[in-house]
Amino acid sequence: MAARAVGLLASLPLCAQRSQVLRPIHRLLSCPRTVAAEIKREEQSSGSVETGSEGRTPKKTFSEVQKERREQAQRTVLIHCPNKISVKKFLKYLSQHGPINNHFFYESFGLYAVVEFCQKESVTSLQNGTRTPSMGTEAAIPFRSRVFNLKTKNPSNPTSEQSRVQCSIHAPPSSKKLLELLCYAESIDDQLNTLLKELQLTEENTKLRYLTCSLIEDIAAAYFLDCTVRPFGSSVNSFGKLGCDLDMFLDLDEIGKFSANKTSGNFLMEFQVKNVPSERMATQKILSVIGECLDHFGPGCVGVQKILNARCPLVRFSHQASGFQCDLTTNNRIALKSSELLYIYGALDSRVRALVFSIRCWARAHSLTSSIPGSWITNFSLTMMVIFFLQRRSPPILPTLDSLKTLADAEDKCVIEGHNCTFVRDLNKIKPSGNTETLELLLKEFFEYFGNFAFNKNSINIRQGREQNKPESSPLHIQNPFETSLNISKNVSQSQLQKFVELARESAWILNQEDKDRPSSSRSQPWGLAALLLPSVVNSASLAKRVRKKPASERIKSLLESIKSSGPENATSTNGKRTVSTQA
Ligand code: GTP
Ligand code: MG
Repeated sequence: MAARAVGLLASLPLCAQRSQVLRPIHRLLSCPRTVAAEIKREEQSSGSVETGSEGRTPKKTFSEVQKERREQAQRTVLIHCPNKISVKKFLKYLSQHGPINNHFFYESFGLYAVVEFCQKESVTSLQNGTRTPSMGTEAAIPFRSRVFNLKTKNPSNPTSEQSRVQCSIHAPPSSKKLLELLCYAESIDDQLNTLLKELQLTEENTKLRYLTCSLIEDIAAAYFLDCTVRPFGSSVNSFGKLGCDLDMFLDLDEIGKFSANKTSGNFLMEFQVKNVPSERMATQKILSVIGECLDHFGPGCVGVQKILNARCPLVRFSHQASGFQCDLTTNNRIALKSSELLYIYGALDSRVRALVFSIRCWARAHSLTSSIPGSWITNFSLTMMVIFFLQRRSPPILPTLDSLKTLADAEDKCVIEGHNCTFVRDLNKIKPSGNTETLELLLKEFFEYFGNFAFNKNSINIRQGREQNKPESSPLHIQNPFETSLNISKNVSQSQLQKFVELARESAWILNQEDKDRPSSSRSQPWGLAALLLPSVVNSASLAKRVRKKPASERIKSLLESIKSSGPENATSTNGKRTVSTQA
């Protein structure tokens, strides 16, 4: 089928092969099987859970999405381009190697193009037609990756067709822009949905994440043939925000499984391997060597740090071309399962992601979360708190993990390192909730609920969906859903928890006050969710007192003034990328 399509394309006049205007025709002729999915994906709101829409289309499972995206990434290349190029000529030049299914440009230390071919063979063809640069005084390591540099043969003589190309955006909007958008929303529900739309990963950003994993996999495969590098965490669990890190899992378990099943007869062949005293040591050795590889041979992999003595050993690095901060782990299969579970929760009800994004953003705005590890709460823990809260509604908006386990069939069975990680993976088998509460109510109730939660004696437990006695004395106890004896928020200090509680109470109070005195005519002042995202100027000790004293409208006004006086925009720029105070 694909070969026939190539033939058809080759017989078209060149002008018809290349233009962006003709991209849909090009696609229809070139990649028949992927077209429908592609068009549908583009129509969907970007970054949303890829589950198929409203009921009629069967929802895709997490592994189906991963498989599809992975295969797509393997046919894709990353090209560093001159700042001004003719897109038409560029695409025509590349289509010598085969039909192109999709492309986009973005900026990160220069202009990059992500080009997805229809067939994997086109990538090999491009690699075969590419030279290793001669570096003058320096020596190049001849590593043949899928990251290329495009040079123009005559840079001093640009043609009129060479112009700045349109780039897709991979950074969240500035705080100022976000606040403006929220102020002009119709309702608090609208505000939460706007925030989700603005901050969620775009289709292009998601593609770039899978591509980056695929590029790292190429490097790891030099040692471990047939290994897989899979994204996990917020890049894939549907709660990722533009700018979030890229968590990767080097999966070595699949190696050899397939061929081992095939052996027949009286003999069993095994690879001769080296042994080390423990699984942990094996993980450390593997990550150490991959870290070296990334450092020495990985194009654009910079700042490689081997953090091998952590509870979960990892290699951290920046992938310059994509702009992602990457954490590579191995032997971390439970985290992959957690990502799948969160993906399911995110897909079950459209209110879940809107609420999680808002709470994460609220927490970041008040420095309750941070990008550096410490005694503060993590985004992962916050997501668990929202899920738990939604399980506690009447009727519940989300099912408990135990009930998802009850719905599982034999194929869903999953035990990792002795921990039962079984739950139903087919979203279509889970009954939607009958709860119709608005996002506004849920937001308010979330703050009320956790502003008054008995953290001193109770633990949060999404497996059973009810409070339980705390098994240990950490200030905040959120049971790890799979390794049930562990607390995912063990790091959180009493003072951080106290700050969370006070801010939650304050936010509930602001929302309640606003019901009473929100000026309906003026949308230029922060209100609703926007008011909650303003950095709190009060310190936690005097918080309660001040809240009682000042009317909400006055407080919001003074907060706004304080922001204005602290600078024109609460955003800084690093490496040409925007960073905002609301960044998670
Ligand atoms: P971001 O803050 O957007 O990166 O969210 P994230 O969910 O990706 O969090 P993070 O990068 O810190 O961790 C990646 C994944 O590792 C999470 O999604 C979880 O699956 C897992 N994880 C993180 N922290 C913990 C923890 O304390 N315990 C367990 N069991 N898993 C964790
Ligand atoms: Mg992450």
